[in-house]
Amino acid sequence: MFQLRTLDDLTATELDHLLTEANSLLVKKEFECHSQKSVANLFFEPSTRTKTSFEMAEHQLGLHVLPFDVEHSSVKKGETLYDTVKTLEAIGCDAVVIRHPEQAYYKDLEGVSIPVINAGDGAGDHPTQSLLDLLTIQQEFLFFQNLNIVIAGDVRHSRVARTNARILRKLGARVYFTGPPQWMDEDITEGKVVSMDEALEIADVIMLLRIQVERHEETGGWTKESYHETYGLTEEREIRMKSGSIIMHPAPFNRGVEIADTVVECERSRIFKQMTNGVAVRKAVLKRALSLEEEIV
Ligand code: CP
Repeated sequence: MFQLRTLDDLTATELDHLLTEANSLLVKKEFECHSQKSVANLFFEPSTRTKTSFEMAEHQLGLHVLPFDVEHSSVKKGETLYDTVKTLEAIGCDAVVIRHPEQAYYKDLEGVSIPVINAGDGAGDHPTQSLLDLLTIQQEFLFFQNLNIVIAGDVRHSRVARTNARILRKLGARVYFTGPPQWMDEDITEGKVVSMDEALEIADVIMLLRIQVERHEETGGWTKESYHETYGLTEEREIRMKSGSIIMHPAPFNRGVEIADTVVECERSRIFKQMTNGVAVRKAVLKRALSLEEEIV
């Protein structure tokens, strides 16, 4: 059974196949799904992009989406995640997409027989975000080998930083981190820490991160203005970036904090393209998880 809990679930061939498939699925097309398969999206943490792009992908694939609202479910009566997913399985759901604040929540779901697609687990992993990031980089540069990718900002609390650093290193890119020293993470050993000045000189891709205030125990002593001035991608810094380099951000972004308002939609920015790619990537993942290759027309 195909699962996507982390990108470690994929072989190099499977990863390559998913990216190729996603690229071909970028052309918006409604499919008719003969199998009448159904899927439920369980979001225990807020989401705009991941949830709606899964919903759009499911709609475009002709899947039935079982509405599931955590706030109005028996989770509120204390039902566990395992029992919730076993219930969905028992009533005929074919796959579940889950975002949950607990890191590696999927380890509790070993007894489940339907595919679990991880839409983010605490500060752990965000595999479909990483796939859409890879697709965006591949569209731009065609390859990953020897690209300089700088991940900037709140690295310690970011599941995107963790997943991307690991896979990009595996694919031969050179990964660097920049940001406040207290938010660098000594456990992420895939890259070297550089200053913002150095980052601007070397980066083919600057991947900015949102400050994950909801995962912070302390305020950190910064203001929006001081953060922007010291670590943000200001207009002045954007101008100093290498020719041909691009800006990415998983979003949501904070205009005027990690990125200047005008830089969000500047020529180098691929931020909204990432979101478009997100639908295609999620369609490719759902097709694989539900073995839809033979079943859609
Ligand atoms: N990038 C991302 O995961 O965004 P959402 O939290 O809005 O899903």
